[in-house]
Amino acid sequence: MAAKQVKSRQRVADHGEVFTAEREVKAMCDLVKQETERIDSRFLEPACGDGNFLVEILTRKLAIVKKKYKRSAYDWERNSLLALGSMYGVDILLDNAKACRDRLYEIWEQEYKAVCKKECNDDTRAAARFILERNIVCGNALTLFCVDNEQQDTTEPIVFSEWTFPFNDARIQRKDYTFAELINAEEPKRPKKEGAQQTLFDLYPEAKPEPDEEGIFLQQYITHYRRLSENG
Ligand SMILES: C[S@@+](CC[C@H](N)C(=O)[O-])C[C@H]1O[C@@H](n2cnc3c(N)ncnc32)[C@H](O)[C@@H]1O
Repeated sequence: MAAKQVKSRQRVADHGEVFTAEREVKAMCDLVKQETERIDSRFLEPACGDGNFLVEILTRKLAIVKKKYKRSAYDWERNSLLALGSMYGVDILLDNAKACRDRLYEIWEQEYKAVCKKECNDDTRAAARFILERNIVCGNALTLFCVDNEQQDTTEPIVFSEWTFPFNDARIQRKDYTFAELINAEEPKRPKKEGAQQTLFDLYPEAKPEPDEEGIFLQQYITHYRRLSENG
């Protein structure tokens, strides 16, 4: 049965909430087919609803991850987290942001069980959840701030994390940027958090931030991917 495109008239009137039908989603994704099949190509759905486009793109990426890495749980885990980490969404309604995270997680988890079977572990599951918690944001994509339960802007700018495996081993790197920085708009002023989250530069001095082509980022963390959720 086709998914409903409208939940209520009120939501359409208040937030323009009309979901895109699967057929259109697939056709639009086909316009950038090569990118949807590249494991680390980044996609942002700025009014994501429950994630119709992200769901389709993640499905395509995980098909590639399976094809390339199904023989090694370690390789599948790393590459599937990379795929998940390349999915970004913003929605002003909290129930939509949550539904989007849950749908993406379900797709990832289903593949995880099918490919890694007995090697599945809860630390990697927690890492997947953690990435989604950060990447799918309840916020206002026009003002670039997070919102509260009444869809009002808070003082927290939307922050997105870039996820990479820069050392080609089990260490995953997260770099945080404000959405404003990323789209080159005026940056909301926010002081750097002091001591709130542990950075791992002491353990990995080679990872100290260097001047960066894309501008200044807020924070950087490096950790084993299975310990990702311990890190802030
Ligand atoms: C037309 S629906 C599209 C949903 C999804 N992208 C799709 O194609 O199925 C628009 C979505 O944008 C959200 N929205 C409306 N204003 C927004 C804003 N200022 N910032 C972020 N999301 C917003 C609504 O809650 C709704 O889920």
